[in-house]
Amino acid sequence: MSTTAQAHDWSAAQYLKFEDERTQPARDLLARILLQAPKKIVDLGCGPGNSTAVLESRYPDAHLIGIDSSPDMIRKAKVTLPHREFTVLDLESYSPPDSVDLFYSNAVFQWLKKDERFEIVKRLMQTQSSGGVFALQVPDNLSEPSHVLMRETAENGPWAATLAKVGRDTFQTAQEIYDQLKPVSSRVDIFHTSYYHALESHEAIIEWVKGTGLRPYLDPLGPEEKKSFLREYLKRLQGAYPVSVDGRVLLRYPRLFVVAVKT
Ligand SMILES: C[S@@+](CC[C@H](N)C(=O)[O-])C[C@H]1O[C@@H](n2cnc3c(N)ncnc32)[C@H](O)[C@@H]1O
Repeated sequence: MSTTAQAHDWSAAQYLKFEDERTQPARDLLARILLQAPKKIVDLGCGPGNSTAVLESRYPDAHLIGIDSSPDMIRKAKVTLPHREFTVLDLESYSPPDSVDLFYSNAVFQWLKKDERFEIVKRLMQTQSSGGVFALQVPDNLSEPSHVLMRETAENGPWAATLAKVGRDTFQTAQEIYDQLKPVSSRVDIFHTSYYHALESHEAIIEWVKGTGLRPYLDPLGPEEKKSFLREYLKRLQGAYPVSVDGRVLLRYPRLFVVAVKT
């Protein structure tokens, strides 16, 4: 299934409600990149500039560029880092400048069509010199209650026909990723981390996914349908996630990381 992610623009403000939690994997991905002083870096799907700021803090002297297909995200990124170069561009047709030392992409490739993801990665890697790095991180949460229940809610309401084709393609397995990238890489590191976010309430889970995975489900609905979808989804979340000792709710959030070094 393909997503309708780009049918409506993203909202930088909604996305940034959980800025710190969303940026931690960007830091963890960066920690596994061994490049000491890359000269040219592109943040692919830079969003509001939060991941670009993480790159800047480690590599302040690099020529750092951010691209994203969302005008709202790029507007916000330009405010966050006014001295850097940000452009509205789609990854599917993106032609990078020559010899980018580091392509970096935090929480973006899951939104691309499955059969296009690694074609894009390999096309971009072809433009890199030997030793160049391609690093990406994606959520691996389609089997988590937050996402299973989103699909269940979509399938069991008056909106079922409208939402029948909504969803996100599953991500490639670690084996598939390795087999795609090893022929063009001297080294492919793949790792997986589960974050446990102690959120304020079940409603906060909804606020979180409203910024990302829930968007394609809500975008096609009218205001009343949206409200009743959210009511149904909340009931299901309340049944699936226990309330912790301090009243908060633990949202388990698995993520997959890939760092490939060009041959
Ligand atoms: C979850 S946000 C990640 C933002 C940021 N990189 C971070 O670390 O938090 C996903 C971003 O990918 C962008 N995106 C999705 N599909 C894209 C595409 N085909 N080309 C460029 N950007 C895309 C969205 O506009 C959004 O800003």
